[in-house]
Amino acid sequence: MTEQTKKFPEGFLWGGAVAANQVEGAYNVGGKGLSTADVSPNGVMYPFDESMESLNLYHEGIDFYHRYKEDIALFAEMGFKAFRTSIAWTRIFPNGDETEPNEEGLEFYDRLFDELLKYNIEPVVTISHYEMPLGLIKKYGGWKNRKVIDCYEHYAKTVFTRYKEKVKYWMTFNEINMVLHAPFTGGGLVFEEGENKLNAMYQAAHHLFVASALAVKAGHDIIPDAKIGCMIAATTTYPMTPKPEDVLAAMENERRTLFFSDVQARGAYPGYMKRFFKENGITIEMAEGDEDILKENTVDYIGFSYYMSMVASTSPEDLAKTEGNLLGGVKNPYLESSEWGWQIDPKGIRITLNTLYDRYQKPLFIVENGLGAVDVVEEDGSIQDDYRINYLRDHLKEVREAIADGVDLIGYTSWGPIDLVSASTAEMKKRYGYIYVDRDNEGKGTLSRTRKKSFYWYKKVIETNGESL
Ligand code: BG6
Repeated sequence: MTEQTKKFPEGFLWGGAVAANQVEGAYNVGGKGLSTADVSPNGVMYPFDESMESLNLYHEGIDFYHRYKEDIALFAEMGFKAFRTSIAWTRIFPNGDETEPNEEGLEFYDRLFDELLKYNIEPVVTISHYEMPLGLIKKYGGWKNRKVIDCYEHYAKTVFTRYKEKVKYWMTFNEINMVLHAPFTGGGLVFEEGENKLNAMYQAAHHLFVASALAVKAGHDIIPDAKIGCMIAATTTYPMTPKPEDVLAAMENERRTLFFSDVQARGAYPGYMKRFFKENGITIEMAEGDEDILKENTVDYIGFSYYMSMVASTSPEDLAKTEGNLLGGVKNPYLESSEWGWQIDPKGIRITLNTLYDRYQKPLFIVENGLGAVDVVEEDGSIQDDYRINYLRDHLKEVREAIADGVDLIGYTSWGPIDLVSASTAEMKKRYGYIYVDRDNEGKGTLSRTRKKSFYWYKKVIETNGESL
């Protein structure tokens, strides 16, 4: 196959992705309640500081709440076809369990989606991205409690009904598998002393599955032409050696993630998880009818984030550690790492796309990919982020290969098209954007926006539908 015959499909959704809590700021404006992010000064790995005394960059974010028009105009200038963001649950239901939604919150997203549609940018909406109302944690213990399913279903129905004419692409939960790795942010879980954490996390996962399936059902009823997807953090894992034990360990590591998409895309708990539960003394409480709900309401597409690959080894001497988005792992000697220690593996995105497509035969959507790096503003005010361009180009070349392999791919929304507050470490210094935002880790800066070199590169990529990479 020649380079010329490898193409991105017509209508491919090029764009960028953010999350409400990492950009909007205005954490106490417009009737918004407190969410997990508002009390997580150090990012998703840490439990909360309800006193709110520490500096918390999420509170102001990049002030997208007030500057979204200016930012969307820049996305439009790059030619975005799609923009992924989330709705802050606490703008709609400040405590999470109210019956009536907060009209001011609903109006904000009306304005935001209208602004996108004005430029023919397709909104792609995550219903819950790493923030849940603090009220639901205090009152019910987060996703440990079945009651939260009702609150989420009510929230999902509210936003489907309100935005049914504006939003067709939805995702139920961001990186749903992270409930196992960042239980506070992924599931609002705070453990009691002596509690069986593993059991609590899998019980929360079950509630997330049922809630997600009920949202898929409601979404299809309310918006017949909606596409509702799941979203996992891909954890493609290589064996350190061809030793069968390492190969098995790699498979098991992948299954800890694929379990989530298996349930959401195939509609049932896989046999390997039933075995895992039995061997680890885990009991999942299910209500009558749960299994039918899961079976009858599978997702339309698989959304996923991809930043790196992982390695599994059964030899203790291999355990040189590396960092990752909430997941560390064994170091791969063949890969370079980012400044934050995340291993850079463009081929891994092709492998991931093929694995997921072979397994589910459903459309895929890359809804996050990108490089977090320190940027330097030159004396002339420019930002020469060639390292970011290289990362994205190398990955997109492999995406194009995967499409040539036969993978059905809806689109590509790179993470953080505009600099934002990072999730795992809650800092501004780790930048992903094509657009620079003047704000530092101390919260100082004018918040002004500047086009980086990558801005012009990505514009060209979109203009040529990926022919010029
Ligand atoms: C994903 C999350 O895990 O990775 C995003 O969905 C997050 O919310 C992104 O921002 C990058 O991670 P970080 O920690 O660099 O912000």
